[in-house]
Amino acid sequence: MSDGPLSPAVDAQVTGGSQPAPAAAEKLSMYKFFPSSISVITSWAEGQRENAMACEWTMNISYQPFLILSLIETGDYTHQLIGESGQFGVNIASADQTEIVNAVGRSSGWNGPKMENPALTGKTYPGRKIKAPMLRGCVLNLECVVEKTIPMGDYTGFVGRVVAGRANSSATPLVYFQGKYFRMGDLIPKPGSEAPVTPAGGA
Ligand SMILES: Cc1cc2nc3c(=O)[nH]c(=O)nc-3n(C[C@H](O)[C@H](O)[C@H](O)COP(=O)(O)O)c2cc1C
Repeated sequence: MSDGPLSPAVDAQVTGGSQPAPAAAEKLSMYKFFPSSISVITSWAEGQRENAMACEWTMNISYQPFLILSLIETGDYTHQLIGESGQFGVNIASADQTEIVNAVGRSSGWNGPKMENPALTGKTYPGRKIKAPMLRGCVLNLECVVEKTIPMGDYTGFVGRVVAGRANSSATPLVYFQGKYFRMGDLIPKPGSEAPVTPAGGA
């Protein structure tokens, strides 16, 4: 299969050419080519409602200490709760959780109690080390305490130190690519590590 044509912006970088700057719409659509996992970020603050939102911009940024970065839009209810409480839960969605991701990613806690959405009924458990609820059935659950807050335009980077966690090796991750949901697919053997093929009927 051949690659599609490069956009003017990428072409200028690759070839050193003097192509015009990409249009705003083109730049916006390029971010969709980053495949990502989807985290459900759970949050809580004293005297406020518990909350959950979908967040594709969450990643592991250090092993020792174990640090996670989540980028949250400044106007979100989640932003308010994490800012006040200094803690958040990272729950990496499995492929069976698209209904939950949609429910928490397309509505705001400013407009009502999201945790009462039927998609979440019976699906949470109390955090062990943080007061935010955590989500069952995920690939990974990490309870985080905010170490650092990095303002970045319309978003804030919350760097969380993991204080408790659990991994579920039998769950299949949900993958987000070009605005669509995918179930993680086939295992591709690492080049050079394939098992040698035994000839049929051979010794
Ligand atoms: C698939 C998906 C991925 C998203 N990723 C992010 C993200 O990385 N960062 C962010 O701030 N919002 C992201 N959002 C949008 C928030 O989930 C959405 O604005 C939500 O309503 C915020 O809820 P809150 O106001 O209750 O915190 C995403 C939404 C979806 C559906």
